[in-house]
Amino acid sequence: MKYGFFDDQRKEYVIETPATPLPWINYLGSEDFFSIISQTGGGYSFYRDAKLRRLTRYRYNSVPSDTGSRMYYIADGEALWSPAFAPLRAPLERFACRHGLGYTVFESAKNGLSAQLTCFVPIGAPCEVNHLVLTNQTDAVKEIDVVSAAEWCLWNAQEDAQNFQRTYNTGEVEIDGSTLYHKTEYRERRNHYAFFAVNRELTGFDTDREAFLGRMNGWDSPQSVLERKSRGSVAHGWTPIASHRVHLTLKPGERAGLIFVLGYAELPQEEKWEALDVINKEPAKKLLSRFQSEEQVALALEELARYWERLLGRFSVVSGDDKLNRMVNVWNQYQCMVTFNLSRSASFFESGMGRGMGFRDSCQDLLGFVHMVPERARQRILDLASVQLEDGSCYHQYQPLTKKGNADVGGDFNDDPLWLIACAASYIRETGDAAILAEPAPFNSAPGTEAPLFEHLRRSAAFTAGHLGPHGLPLIGRADWNDCLNFNCFSTDPDENFQTASNTVGEVAESVFIAAMYILYGKQFAELCRRFPEYAPFDAAEQARRFETAAAEMERSVLASGWDGEWFLRAYDAFGDKIGSSECAEGKIFIEPQGFCVMAGVGVKTGEARKALDSVMRLLTTKYGTCLLWPAYSVYDKRLGEIGSYPRGYKENGSVFCHNNPWVSIAETMLGNPENAFGHYARIAPAYTEDFSDIRRVEPYAYCQTIAGQEAPTQGEGKNSWLTGTAAWAFVNVSQYLLGVRPTLDGLEIAPCLPAAFQSVEITRVWRDTKYSITVFRGEEIGVTVDGQKIEGNIIPHKKGRKECEVRVVI
Ligand code: GLC
Ligand code: GLC
Repeated sequence: MKYGFFDDQRKEYVIETPATPLPWINYLGSEDFFSIISQTGGGYSFYRDAKLRRLTRYRYNSVPSDTGSRMYYIADGEALWSPAFAPLRAPLERFACRHGLGYTVFESAKNGLSAQLTCFVPIGAPCEVNHLVLTNQTDAVKEIDVVSAAEWCLWNAQEDAQNFQRTYNTGEVEIDGSTLYHKTEYRERRNHYAFFAVNRELTGFDTDREAFLGRMNGWDSPQSVLERKSRGSVAHGWTPIASHRVHLTLKPGERAGLIFVLGYAELPQEEKWEALDVINKEPAKKLLSRFQSEEQVALALEELARYWERLLGRFSVVSGDDKLNRMVNVWNQYQCMVTFNLSRSASFFESGMGRGMGFRDSCQDLLGFVHMVPERARQRILDLASVQLEDGSCYHQYQPLTKKGNADVGGDFNDDPLWLIACAASYIRETGDAAILAEPAPFNSAPGTEAPLFEHLRRSAAFTAGHLGPHGLPLIGRADWNDCLNFNCFSTDPDENFQTASNTVGEVAESVFIAAMYILYGKQFAELCRRFPEYAPFDAAEQARRFETAAAEMERSVLASGWDGEWFLRAYDAFGDKIGSSECAEGKIFIEPQGFCVMAGVGVKTGEARKALDSVMRLLTTKYGTCLLWPAYSVYDKRLGEIGSYPRGYKENGSVFCHNNPWVSIAETMLGNPENAFGHYARIAPAYTEDFSDIRRVEPYAYCQTIAGQEAPTQGEGKNSWLTGTAAWAFVNVSQYLLGVRPTLDGLEIAPCLPAAFQSVEITRVWRDTKYSITVFRGEEIGVTVDGQKIEGNIIPHKKGRKECEVRVVI
């Protein structure tokens, strides 16, 4: 069952009913101002930091779960309705929610009045614009009231949700014509305020929630809306809001456009005030002057469209498979940008108050957006390197506002350091900017400790080398990629956090997964040493040799102690017992080392690789994707950690943890199996799951983190959509391995691995300064032709100054 459809022409997903199984959201904003918006207009807005600069309030665990933010009430004679359906939820004669690239449009109608509400965050403006167009489609004159409402969050979202003895006293507002200002705490330490404005004269307003709603009513039936009379309330403490009332007289056929702007302003300390207690409104007025007319709004929307065209234009495909096209050309890349902007902070599954930027998460996200925003990726890499410690280990998280490592969570996730090599190497392959290796970054954000990025990478690799266990495999520390394998934790206290508790020194438990990472990224580090010795503050040739040797040794260790007969082992626990072995009662096979060992080339020549991927297919792969492990753990075992805290089939305990499915798909391409590889890709790719949206439940245009696995009662159900490393890895998978357009240090490698059903595909790839128009088709004479010349091999060397390049590939 579907709840809408893809409008490929407009690059939109069109939702045709407000009653999607879960909030189906979109993200507005691409710089500092962000909003979440659901298919009924719910969500919230914030400036840069979803916890510390929350602008509008969101109620956690509320029902319906997506109320809030932009609320509009239309009173048309007897009829009362909302153009986005919520909050009034009156039945509509027409409803569509079009989620597009950085904007959302609601189209609705009732009693001969049609509404179109376009919501977006303009480029270069810290605000959300809501353009509401009403058209009278009857033969009679209509007298209409439009009432808006936004509930302010008192900035710190966590305080706002719990510290009422304070917050009920601090709320302050100012009213100036049609602009309603929120200035709580501005008198003291804040130098920012928010405002909600409309480009019309008001016939009424409210700024106090209780006055607006009435004592017994909610947002779906505000007393002042029911009585068609705003109270003119001025909030003093309690819960400040902003609500406008605008009256319209619409003749038959007449339309009216209203422009609402929810904005944010920051001022230097000395310019904060106009007079005692009167805020300086200049920045707000300046911002509002940019969105007074419908022409201005239209231009801002065009600018937004151009912005996305530029970003997405760097990779596109015409393949004959609509689902593939829409994933690659629009939604997957779009989601990669969302993870770039928001990491794991704010979604309907992430509260915006919890995790900062995850170290490994951000490193991996980068693999998916580096081709779109290379300059910003460069800065991100240096920020990440700055939270590395002198011994090469890393803080597991850092705070986006301060860019400092998060000491509460600490480090010791022993996979973290290696991801820094993964992202730096990927950046250099994309841009050719090897000079980044010489760029200084401090350790532990401490000024004075700066060392070139190259040295940071060396310490990453050296950290693993220096932390090996009894089998010569890397020690796992608190956990590796799988946050729930906590072999050194032994927690029996429900009030303890698995992520921070550790009760043993951890000199025994080893990870085959980190071993695979070490082989793959250790070799990539060695390659950087060979290519760019001029940037190395160390003997590059020696380091290259060291890590090439170490990688080869590690490969031997994996085959000697990390191979279980039919698949790769997952780990050894703190007692040296095998995890992920046929000898185990539960958790016999894990997906992560299968994909990653093959990606690292382990057992490719000797046959273990093929066996491992066949075992994955046999034991883990289902219609809804490939599960993380099998059989799931039925009991909680303190020796394993958080993994057994989840019921069977959920999260790390045997769901389809989408993030790692691309690894298996990539591995299949490396063994030359396009059908298997594509199967692994398509099973979790949202567009391919659209037909059973009722089972999957999350948005059919965004990857989710987990899908309930084969042992779960709700198999096939997705959770935690949007902010997942799946986006980046799925894009790496489809762009570099299935479509096979792969940046390398030598040039652009073209190695498509596509099922027989694809007879020909056209790919456009902008790489460095060149636009490559690549045609792939099947034929006898396999090979690559570049601008009419057949080349040796399949790597097109980068040529400076070349603007365009025609490539024909026969497969
Ligand atoms: C979550 C975390 C990620 C981790 C994964 C598996 O997605 O953000 O860092 O690798 O879970 O536990
Ligand atoms: C829990 C989750 C895991 C996530 C981690 C970090 O362990 O199961 O997916 O990565 O928390 O917040």
